[in-house]
Amino acid sequence: MKRFKVTFQPANEKMYVPEGTTIKDALTAAGLDFDFPCGGRGKCGKCRVRVLNGAGLPTSAERKHLEEKEIEQGNRLACMTKIHGDLTVQLPFKKRPEAKILQIAPEKDVQLRPRIRKVYAEAEPPSLDDQRPDWERLKASAGLDGLRAPLPLLRKLPQLARETKYHLTLVLEKEEVLGLEKFDTRDKMLGMAFDIGTTTVVGYLMDLRTGKDLNVASMLNPQAAYGADVISRITFISQEEAGLEKLHGSILAAVNELIGQAAEKAGVAREDIYALTVAGNTCMHHLFLGINPRNLALCPYTPATKEPLALNGRELGIEINEAGRIYTLPNIAGFVGADTVAVILATDLDRSSDIKLAVDIGTNGEIVLGNSERLLACSAAAGPAFEGAQIYCGMRGAEGAIDHVRFGEELEFSVIGEGKPKGICGSGLIDAVAGLLEQGIIDKRGKIRSPHEIGSLKGKFENNIVQHEGANAFLLVDESQTAHGRPILITQRDIRELQLAKGAIATGIQVLMEKQGIETAEITEVLLAGAFGNYLNPRSACAIGLLPPALVEKVKGVGNAAGTGAKAALLSLGEYQRAALISESVEYVELSAYPAFNSLFASSLTFPEPLIPEPSS
Ligand code: FES
Repeated sequence: MKRFKVTFQPANEKMYVPEGTTIKDALTAAGLDFDFPCGGRGKCGKCRVRVLNGAGLPTSAERKHLEEKEIEQGNRLACMTKIHGDLTVQLPFKKRPEAKILQIAPEKDVQLRPRIRKVYAEAEPPSLDDQRPDWERLKASAGLDGLRAPLPLLRKLPQLARETKYHLTLVLEKEEVLGLEKFDTRDKMLGMAFDIGTTTVVGYLMDLRTGKDLNVASMLNPQAAYGADVISRITFISQEEAGLEKLHGSILAAVNELIGQAAEKAGVAREDIYALTVAGNTCMHHLFLGINPRNLALCPYTPATKEPLALNGRELGIEINEAGRIYTLPNIAGFVGADTVAVILATDLDRSSDIKLAVDIGTNGEIVLGNSERLLACSAAAGPAFEGAQIYCGMRGAEGAIDHVRFGEELEFSVIGEGKPKGICGSGLIDAVAGLLEQGIIDKRGKIRSPHEIGSLKGKFENNIVQHEGANAFLLVDESQTAHGRPILITQRDIRELQLAKGAIATGIQVLMEKQGIETAEITEVLLAGAFGNYLNPRSACAIGLLPPALVEKVKGVGNAAGTGAKAALLSLGEYQRAALISESVEYVELSAYPAFNSLFASSLTFPEPLIPEPSS
């Protein structure tokens, strides 16, 4: 088979690939960071690169996403373009824009009692008067007579005992001995709590003796190279040979990398880490464990397991102390995972006498409603619009993304990283649409009005209404002000995508209220968990009907609550056991099986009446 040279600029990375390889596969093989939000299926149009020579003819999928002028300039979709000759490919960024990752996981008061503990033993060496076996004398001096040691440790014991004159530390989990260490190592007792999200992975390094945070490390989930959302990743696994191994391997590598980074920043060794707790949605949970998540995407969407698991770290491939344990938090259902359990732990919803609503918005929005008497949970398939995918100028919340928009005397916006904008992320899009509604530029059904239709309404921004692909669009930033020289538009299709996404979440909330038999006014607090919820302007979320407008004053961000819950479970056996109770007691509601789902969803697509404007400060 012929092979061709591909050069990636500006990195000047050169490689040879077999004829017919896609640019996407070449990028992955070269180890270059690049996003493929739809998993390389030609659907999102976001993997745009410029082929400087020999671009060849575009595919029909490329024609759908690229304009004629762009095609002439060599723009192509990396996932659709096959290599049939030597190529030079210009990548849009020198390096992937720095993502804004939410690391703040507020502390929670818990009783400090980790599952792993250490006991130091100083035994007398044997003599002719005292010929008790090594293990017996060690147990007796530790005051733990009932302990049983596994064979691998018994094999090590005779030598370790004599080298240290019987000064040894036992690493214990309940009554099981996990490790034997030379001398007194009780001062080395660290753990890490992981929140493995579909988009980001965050690890909190903690001292298990004091409960203090030592460091935090985070990165984008490298599985994003195989698809932005869980369905794309499951599709990748079903279509690719060794797809599961690739996704499992990439999350293990990420966790190991973050362990190394956090340990280095804190000036400790990874061998000092003895326990990891892991919270993630059910798909991330399965992929972390190497379990095929295929059935999560097939009706009736069953997970392989939802129980909390305690595993040997080294056996799983996690590089911590050889005695180290991995504790996965339990799941609730196929699309409501351990991350939701961790959010409930963090926010004490299961102990609240008041009725509260917790929402974690992502490609799937997990929603929990209730109090200590009854908690209901569901997952609403919001799709990727909130993460910027399938939005014409959408991008994730990273450097260059417009994250907030305000329609004042003039159109104002803020950009992550403060440079020129490259696109708009979910929070920016919600602000923009909320503003357009308030300005009367969008009607209740989501139609962008033409300038003449605005008429007597506030027409300050009517010159920003332009034509795009035969429909009205709103020009947010003209090409002279952007980083790439292309305008940033909000198209009619973007509004439709947003309506579908917000409608899914709003319907989920409505169904849970109906199942609980409560009215909106009975909800005392709305807790927004996760990165998106944290950056979202609650007024805008209520203005577009993503959250019930009547609750606008009750919305509160709770940071990375899944991280807080994972930390609590790491520090406290009681919290870890409570997680299991939550997983058992929360009632999962399957939205698609709810009789009124379709009619509720259809009516949630329209936008609500405008909110009373916020008093200007
Ligand atoms: S179009 Fe290529 S990754 Fe979506």
